[in-house]
Amino acid sequence: MFLSSQRCICILIIYTLTPASVETKEKHVLFIMADDLRTTLGCYGDPLVKTPNIDQLASKSQVFLNAYAQQAVCGPSRTSMLTSRRPDTTRLYDFYSYWRVNAGNYTTLPQYFKSQGYNTMSVGKVFHPGIASNFTDDYPYSWSVPPYHPPSFRYEKEKMCKGEDGALHANLLCAVNVTEQPGGTLPDLESTAEAIRLLRGRSDDAPFFLAVGFHKPHIPFRIPQSMVLNRKRVECTLRVGDEILPQVEEFKYLRGLVRE
Ligand SMILES: *[C@@H]1O[C@H](CO)[C@@H](O)[C@H](O)[C@H]1NC(C)=O
Ligand SMILES: *[C@@H]1O[C@H](CO)[C@@H](O)[C@H](O)[C@H]1NC(C)=O
Ligand SMILES: *[C@@H]1O[C@H](CO)[C@@H](O)[C@H](O)[C@H]1NC(C)=O
Repeated sequence: MFLSSQRCICILIIYTLTPASVETKEKHVLFIMADDLRTTLGCYGDPLVKTPNIDQLASKSQVFLNAYAQQAVCGPSRTSMLTSRRPDTTRLYDFYSYWRVNAGNYTTLPQYFKSQGYNTMSVGKVFHPGIASNFTDDYPYSWSVPPYHPPSFRYEKEKMCKGEDGALHANLLCAVNVTEQPGGTLPDLESTAEAIRLLRGRSDDAPFFLAVGFHKPHIPFRIPQSMVLNRKRVECTLRVGDEILPQVEEFKYLRGLVRE
């Protein structure tokens, strides 16, 4: 199942898995969010982007084609979706308020699953961090265990991009050699590893609701070099609404990385 907001937060995928145990009749839920991802995806008919894994999942899923943005920023959109209330109701339009105190003590989606005996877990960016979720990602109301955050996220705004001069810069766009990054990893790789660890380590005593929030494609675009090196030619297209602007030959940040 897909829902998606147009501009600001996320594509959300709820994927139910049949539990291994015959004891539990409830389905497990894997709930995936991606920050700033919109419907610019193969499964929505986009002719340019390459999204083979999402397309494969979509091919076996119900894809919802009416996509809306609750609010053109992250925090209130997440609050809206996770409390099942529009911003008109929460009256939260920025990042600086916790709904339980400033809107209403609303039950969240994971909280509901938790109240029904589910083991609820949060990995990465699910609730908007900081005061918007009371600096706890709404734990313990929403989650059975403390939420996980990828440790390497702390480098996201630091100078991590090697420039042509060999020095490190804080670029908006940069393809990095992952093994040279601190800890040899990137935040979304850590979140994926943690999600897999939780899935493998689960017990069949209770059904689970596992929320996995990816930080990409939110800026900065610190991405694995391998994602661009395996393309012979990177064509960059700028688009305003439905209008495709004249082709941009090359992004500076890719120079030297792309082998023609
Ligand atoms: C908010 O709701 C939770 C249960 O959903 C409850 O434990 C808590 O006491 C409530 N807080 C207030 C201030 O009503
Ligand atoms: C927010 O967090 C603080 C500190 O952890 C806690 O004392 C307070 O009860 C929390 N607010 C709500 C509404 O649960
Ligand atoms: C990435 O960095 C490692 C360690 O410095 C190096 O061995 C490897 O060749 C680099 N990979 C590429 C594609 O540059």
